Amino acid sequence: MSGDQIKLMGNWRKILNSRDRISGRNRDLEYSWDAYDKGLQDYSIFFEKVCPDKKAGLKLFVENTLSDRRGQAVGVDVGGPGLMLFQGFDPNFFYKTIGAILLKRYEYSEILDEKHTIIEADCLKARGLRRLKNSLGGDGKVDILFERMLGGIKNYPASPEYLWSLLNNLYKLLRTGGMMFAQSPDLRGKEDKQNIQNWLDNLQNNSCGSLELKHASMPSMVHNVPKEDVYEIIYLRKLEGAPDDLPR
Ligand SMILES: C[S@@+](CC[C@H](N)C(=O)[O-])C[C@H]1O[C@@H](n2cnc3c(N)ncnc32)[C@H](O)[C@@H]1O
Repeated sequence: MSGDQIKLMGNWRKILNSRDRISGRNRDLEYSWDAYDKGLQDYSIFFEKVCPDKKAGLKLFVENTLSDRRGQAVGVDVGGPGLMLFQGFDPNFFYKTIGAILLKRYEYSEILDEKHTIIEADCLKARGLRRLKNSLGGDGKVDILFERMLGGIKNYPASPEYLWSLLNNLYKLLRTGGMMFAQSPDLRGKEDKQNIQNWLDNLQNNSCGSLELKHASMPSMVHNVPKEDVYEIIYLRKLEGAPDDLPR
């Protein structure tokens, strides 16, 4: 074997080893979550503060508001298997549901719910979003989207720019009339936190009826962090005349 060939083999080995390390780490992490594939009731409590109809609760709010989509509705759980979540809804409400996670655990290799699919997609990256979009089929649009990664999101950057791009990418998947409930990463820096909260307030108050938004600050779930550390929970609905991108 020539010197160049040996060098090439060495490079490939390095690439393969690093891929194994990454997927090994992801695999361990995916099996380590305390809260995993939680049901609709758990999500309802988590998003209670931003649910526009607290009396009806999350389930009835979604089903009533999107009643014209009954039987055709598409639901996505970004950052969760979504199986238990979507089973909490009326069985005739959804046409199709998807859970998008980093790694599919072995217990989900065979799912008996024929409407539900679990895909592996890093939804914070363009490639993962493309994979999610492709698996939606039809017009590639979503009626109801949840993103509640809990500890899975807490360490992603919390700059205004990053949060805008995260929410905007999910917002772009929504059909007109569609809605999402999302969790932000932990907001730590005082200035970033203020800027993000101002931006959300601004969207809430100045979107001329084409967006509906509610947000609330929640204390960080991380142990031993300053009590000023919070994350935001966000309800966002895209209405007729809404812009293609979320205003910054
Ligand atoms: C703590 S579990 C939460 C599961 C579920 N949402 C629930 O509330 O029961 C965190 C999940 O976030 C997923 N996750 C983290 N980063 C992700 C990303 N960039 N794209 C898709 N899923 C992600 C992980 O794969 C993991 O399944």
